[in-house]
Amino acid sequence: MDEEMAGVTKASFGKLRSGEPVDIYTLTNKNGLSAKIITYGATLTSVMAPDKSGKLGEVCLGFDNIAAYEFNGKPAQPYMGATVGRYANRIGKGRFTIGGKTYKLATNNPPNHLHGGESKALCWVNWKAQIVPRPDGPAVQFTYLSKDGDEGYPGNVNASVIFTLTEANTVKMEYAATTDKPCPINLTNHAYFNLKGSGTILDHELYIAGKSYTEGDDDLLPTGKILPVTDTPYDFFTQPAIIGDRINAAGGKEPAIGYDLNYVLLPGAKGYATVARVHDHNTGRLLEVRTDQPGIQFYTGNFLDGTLVGRGGWKYVQYSGFCLETQHFPDSPNQKSFPNTILQPGQTYRTKTEYAFLVK
Ligand code: GLA
Repeated sequence: MDEEMAGVTKASFGKLRSGEPVDIYTLTNKNGLSAKIITYGATLTSVMAPDKSGKLGEVCLGFDNIAAYEFNGKPAQPYMGATVGRYANRIGKGRFTIGGKTYKLATNNPPNHLHGGESKALCWVNWKAQIVPRPDGPAVQFTYLSKDGDEGYPGNVNASVIFTLTEANTVKMEYAATTDKPCPINLTNHAYFNLKGSGTILDHELYIAGKSYTEGDDDLLPTGKILPVTDTPYDFFTQPAIIGDRINAAGGKEPAIGYDLNYVLLPGAKGYATVARVHDHNTGRLLEVRTDQPGIQFYTGNFLDGTLVGRGGWKYVQYSGFCLETQHFPDSPNQKSFPNTILQPGQTYRTKTEYAFLVK
């Protein structure tokens, strides 16, 4: 049944240094939109979406070869399009304690743990893939067994994500995970989008349904305080605003100035809701983010510095793309007041996020 579902094609995306093959799946819906996902990191590498005249263009930052993605002692690129876990974002000092036992993780974003760690983080491993029937569009399911102790995390964790390109022009990601020992789980997608398909995203207009944010220290680790966005450069809620307008006041350490913070969506996103909208007035493209998660990281590609060159020769300079990573709050395993992220044996972790590609 693999290889043959309407709207899905599978091709080779080359080999890892180990010789292991990486595949690329292309989903195409009836409106002509397409999304590409590779098995390495269950990574979204491309989204072709229409502008207001109906012309399709690339809106997702990415690369056309596996070497540009592969972890090589360090990340080859900053998580572009990857499925991130076991714990997306930061865990303070790379430590957490469950049932009196302390677990130690890589402090790969010193002094903290970031995005699941190093070579066995979910974004740096090759997932299995299977084309699956879904009622709302072409779809592929990616699965990976993360073994007890991988990256220091407890338990054998079976993780999966189904990518569907729906006929309503959304890229939908449905995540699931089970474990045989209690373990923190926080899965997200780290796609960088640029709705013009060139230049920077400083002229895009943003709305985020976050009335407050988790305050971060100098290393972006939550202090535990939840502060209102009112009268800060983080207020995209009461009035949608152009991303570039207040970016110099958005925080960060020189030269990586810009937005990199977790918005608190509670109680807004209880259930399933649109939590962010980005509009590019040039092309008319409008991205809507829908999720059931309590938080969303807004990041403006502050660390991009022009050294990475993507598909089609596109140089990724600072602010070439924005990320809207739906998530549980950073460092939840160490913050008692934040919503729980410990998955127990017998439970199934489930979460869903959609990126809708619309025009206005
Ligand atoms: C997340 C983090 C950022 C940065 C990027 C990748 O958005 O919050 O600090 O690490 O990933 O560079």
